[in-house]
Amino acid sequence: MSLIKDWTTELRYKTYDQWSVDYVKELKMSIDSSNWRLNYHIQPQTGLLNDPNGFSYFNKKWHLFYQAYPMGPVHGVKSWFHLTSDNLIDWQKEGLALLPDSDYDSHGVYSGSAFAVNDKLFLAYTGNVRNKSWERSSYQLGAWMDKSNHIIKEKKPFIAAPPKGYTNDFRDPQVFHQGDKYYLIIGAQNDALEGKVLTYMSKDLISWELLGELSFTKEKMGFMVECPNLVFIEGKAVFLFCPQGLDKNILSYKNIYPNTYITADSFDIETNTLTSPSSLKNLDEGFDVYATQAFNAPDGRALAVSWIGLPELSYPSDKEGWAHCLSLVKELSLRDGKLIQLPASETKELRENKQQIQGRLTEEKLLLSTTKNSYELNLQLEQGAKGTLSLLTDQQINSALTLSFNTVNGTITINRENYGVDFERESENQRSFSIPQDTLSLQVFVDRSVIEIFINDGQKVVTARVFPNNDQTGIILEGENSLFSGNIWTLRSMRSEE
Ligand code: FRU
Repeated sequence: MSLIKDWTTELRYKTYDQWSVDYVKELKMSIDSSNWRLNYHIQPQTGLLNDPNGFSYFNKKWHLFYQAYPMGPVHGVKSWFHLTSDNLIDWQKEGLALLPDSDYDSHGVYSGSAFAVNDKLFLAYTGNVRNKSWERSSYQLGAWMDKSNHIIKEKKPFIAAPPKGYTNDFRDPQVFHQGDKYYLIIGAQNDALEGKVLTYMSKDLISWELLGELSFTKEKMGFMVECPNLVFIEGKAVFLFCPQGLDKNILSYKNIYPNTYITADSFDIETNTLTSPSSLKNLDEGFDVYATQAFNAPDGRALAVSWIGLPELSYPSDKEGWAHCLSLVKELSLRDGKLIQLPASETKELRENKQQIQGRLTEEKLLLSTTKNSYELNLQLEQGAKGTLSLLTDQQINSALTLSFNTVNGTITINRENYGVDFERESENQRSFSIPQDTLSLQVFVDRSVIEIFINDGQKVVTARVFPNNDQTGIILEGENSLFSGNIWTLRSMRSEE
């Protein structure tokens, strides 16, 4: 099958029923033969996946949706695809759930959140509509899902337009509950083209009152803020969001747009303020995290999932007809006031065979293992360790994704330059960041074409897509005289039925 190369606007916005069943079948066949398909991460069956949506717990199951364009690896007309799980690692595909089929969401069922109310799950999302001159309207819409996963959309938007003074770049509502009221925060842009977040309040999820701009920083947040999320951890507020066009003097970042966060003492409803906010920080030190969605689960945990992919970029798997994936489910916590991100404890259930490793770093390259590129590696390094961990290396050790650590000057550098199949040379393929001058622990997840690394028990996270050639399956360690120890587990595949 020859995949579509020229994705015109007209093609991207054809309704799904205009595509033949054979087209989708052939797309699926082409994708099934890919060596980059993931073993235990959520990925699209066909086409493109972007933001996680509606992450929630309802009817004794975890629910997760994602932005989907099933017809190709491009940002076409979006739906919500639905998944359910008992354990946060095995996700059952429930299929397309919210389709762009009404006058209020004809050009895309955009991102949003979910909130369980009695025996129903309330879904809040943005309907994207374009007119003949391709001008955008944004509607904030509600839908109710019952216990048999049957969804009924509300007929009319609960917020029919952005307030006066704001443009139609107005999307991604997150609904949460405080006291006896519901609140909603939403990404916005004012008429001066500045990124803002607006807060609304409701008693009944039907009529919403605008409280105004959420106050969380004195800095300018670029031209638009996407995907705002507020979670509460031990009484403190953690605010995650994606400012677009942020000045790099405010925060240094290398991705096209960063996924950032601040921590705050509280969310003061009276003044619509995140009190004593920290400075802005990057959520991830790697290459590909965006649109992270977090929520306070009923079991007391604050859980998060990220889109591993970035807007406006192309990736090598596009040529195979699919794009992007979601991260592992991460648990957020605070340690000494700092945000900690760790894989949810359930992730351990993926472990199969264990190989213990220990020894001394030397200049000689030590092949720890060759794998099927579906593993977890835990590595402890002593204070003073300097060296390089090479992942997904070839037999000749010519090419690898490298993590170079120096616990003496306190830096880590990740490098995916000249690795595997070439992509996105316009973004820098090397990233450095600081770590304490102390012992170092690495928890590394490799899954065929994605890597997630949790450093020093979740103090920093590095996420990267990489596209290895078939012979790139080794793990190599080298460095200067110091001890290391750890384990490598092969990880089983996600159990999911279609
Ligand atoms: C972020 C985003 C959201 C929007 C969605 C559309 O990646 O642009 O702001 O709702 O993607 O797919």
